[in-house]
Amino acid sequence: MNKDLKILVTGVKGQLGFDCLRVLKQRGYHNVLGIDKEELDITDEEAVNKFILDYKPDVIMHNAAWTAVDKAEEMPELVYKVNALGPKYIATAAKKVGAKMFYISTDYVFDGEGEKPFEVDSPKEGLSIYGKTKSKGEDFVTSNTDKYFIIRISWVFGINGNNYIKTMLKLSLIKDELNIVCDQIGSPTYTLDLANLMADMMESDKYGVYHATNEGFISWYDFTKYIYEAKGITNVKVNPITTEEYLKINPNQARRPLNSRMSKKSLEKAGFKLLPNWKDAVNRYLKELGNDY
Ligand SMILES: NC(=O)c1ccc[n+]([C@@H]2O[C@H](COP(=O)([O-])OP(=O)(O)OC[C@H]3O[C@@H](n4cnc5c(N)ncnc54)[C@H](OP(=O)(O)O)[C@@H]3O)[C@@H](O)[C@H]2O)c1
Repeated sequence: MNKDLKILVTGVKGQLGFDCLRVLKQRGYHNVLGIDKEELDITDEEAVNKFILDYKPDVIMHNAAWTAVDKAEEMPELVYKVNALGPKYIATAAKKVGAKMFYISTDYVFDGEGEKPFEVDSPKEGLSIYGKTKSKGEDFVTSNTDKYFIIRISWVFGINGNNYIKTMLKLSLIKDELNIVCDQIGSPTYTLDLANLMADMMESDKYGVYHATNEGFISWYDFTKYIYEAKGITNVKVNPITTEEYLKINPNQARRPLNSRMSKKSLEKAGFKLLPNWKDAVNRYLKELGNDY
């Protein structure tokens, strides 16, 4: 392990960036710079180029993105700049300084057809502006630099920022009944587990495309039931509904894949450890979160 590695982490005010910073510091890396939009707007090509050429990182963990999936439908051009052009500028500059680059992508690059897990090289057909722009970001990364780790994740939760678990906990304070989609199947991803994997990967040269979520395939309904069970919340009745029923009540939502199962074969083949089971991740997360939601 080279603790002198110079590491640039974007999106540190978000969920994953925050945990990347935390894990790198815990592991004793002392040359870590965490930035967010205030320090560098990734849609500004000249600024990105100058920042990276001046700082000369060995590793760039690029986590910043437009993540508001429904709002993305209203402003496709801006989202394209953040999710596709931003990573392109970063990849181009990363190549100039010889930095390894992480680009965090999503299950939303797939169309969600079928029931089989998507492989890393399955055809990409994003259903939403978010999914399409993240997919384009992947393409820009692979065509502009060689030393990349593209990691597709889904249903993200971390201690810093908002996420589905915090929303469900907040709702339990004001609701006694909730209708939750039961036919979208995928896997949650705890940012602390992912950040540890990224720190392992960073020390290797096993570049490529990976899927890395916590283990296990579940529906949002299963996820919600377990969050309440684990937290000891009994006052909310959770009803399963289909995506079709949900869209009738919320017609302006972006389309989301029904099947978000992703295969971890490439992760195993490269010798990286799979992330723990999702229930284990939720238990650890709830313990850390306490009543701070
Ligand atoms: N959240 C999920 O469920 C999910 C699922 C699959 C994949 N992912 C991917 O995982 C990665 C990390 O997600 P996350 O949940 O940690 O994200 P997050 O909490 O939304 O944080 C993203 C950060 O990026 C910043 N940002 C936005 N536009 C920027 C710009 N133009 N220049 C610089 N920074 C900018 C945001 O700042 P502002 O808040 O000020 O805009 C925010 O601090 C992202 O690449 C995301 O696409 C997330």
